[in-house]
Amino acid sequence: MMISKESFSDITTPFYYYDTQLLQDTLDTIKKETAKHPQWSVHYAVKANANSKVLEIIARNGLGADCVSGGEIKAALKAGFPAESIVFAGVGKSDWEIRLGIEAGIFCFNVESLAELEVIEEIASEYGKVVSVELRINPNVGAHTHANITTGLAENKFGIAMESMTDVIRKAKEMSHVKVIGLHFHIGSQILVMDDFKALCSRINNLQESLEKEGITFDNINVGGGLGISYDNPDAEPIPDFQSYFGTYEENLKLRESQTLHFELGRAVVGQCGTLVSRVLYVKQGSHKQFAILDAGMTDLIRPALYQAVHQIENLSSKEACETYDVVGPICESSDVFAKNIELNKCHRGDLIAIRSAGAYGEVMSSTYNCRPLPKAYFSEES
Ligand code: LLP
Repeated sequence: MMISKESFSDITTPFYYYDTQLLQDTLDTIKKETAKHPQWSVHYAVKANANSKVLEIIARNGLGADCVSGGEIKAALKAGFPAESIVFAGVGKSDWEIRLGIEAGIFCFNVESLAELEVIEEIASEYGKVVSVELRINPNVGAHTHANITTGLAENKFGIAMESMTDVIRKAKEMSHVKVIGLHFHIGSQILVMDDFKALCSRINNLQESLEKEGITFDNINVGGGLGISYDNPDAEPIPDFQSYFGTYEENLKLRESQTLHFELGRAVVGQCGTLVSRVLYVKQGSHKQFAILDAGMTDLIRPALYQAVHQIENLSSKEACETYDVVGPICESSDVFAKNIELNKCHRGDLIAIRSAGAYGEVMSSTYNCRPLPKAYFSEES
């Protein structure tokens, strides 16, 4: 890794460090893998990382944006994403957010219930506009990932149940200010088993066939995001396996000639380019364990506490023989633990510690709990 003790000796920790070149290489790979499909459109899921500079780089590379709040729409527009590239999902869109989307002229709303569709119809009529919507369908397809980040099961709150779909489509047809332009799906996040995406493809194929029998066709299919990254070995796999991911859709999804296929990738775009850099405050000998207490905590990176996520941790300052540590933060919560029983080069007060693969759902999920300041961000070209 490029980070060295010297280059950051004056900077207050903890902070996020972004490798801009890796982000660019990742975006180049996405562009390369999708280049032969002019009818494919990749939207970046802003929720993964809404740092303004990260957004600007992604917008410059021509991706669209996938937003889940009015705030994300504003951030995307500010960063330079064209309004007509923005898709807007979420089970609970407030009226002001719907108005914002309509006023900005976004590509479409990904609608998650009949109740929401009715509100969009009502608000759109005030504007005298016809608003494009995709129906988010809950495909009841499982995913091999953590339960908290599975979204496509019938028990999850997301999407319209498959059995209600035709009813909602029929009701939408009677509305004069919404136009259903497509179907939207998203089965979960941090998915590394391509068969999960394959299962989604066959579900979509079946749905399309049965809808076509009723004379219902759409111009857009949106398969959401979900491609995972290697948290175990970020140096060996800095760029996710986009070839297999896009290849799975190419081989398995029966796209009609007139259709555009939309993707909403978040983690796979930004996950590996971010590192949380922290310092050892104290090394404490417990009765059973040795603790390395960092100045970063769950307020800076909540993934380990929330999803039992395992991020690689490195001591950037020490080459001394490894010892076993529980690596913990300073927050007054027992769950403020980054890792248990891991081997780290012997730690000393002041050592710089890197927590890897933190570019997605890291900085953006940080909080001021315990009245802590939010972590700052630095980019590789600044070092
Ligand atoms: N589209 C929709 C509708 C989504 O709900 C999500 C993520 C994405 C796209 C982007 O998924 P990705 O490509 O990043 O997997 N905070 C959790 C992840 C939550 C994901 C929420 N939805 C984590 O840190 O693992």
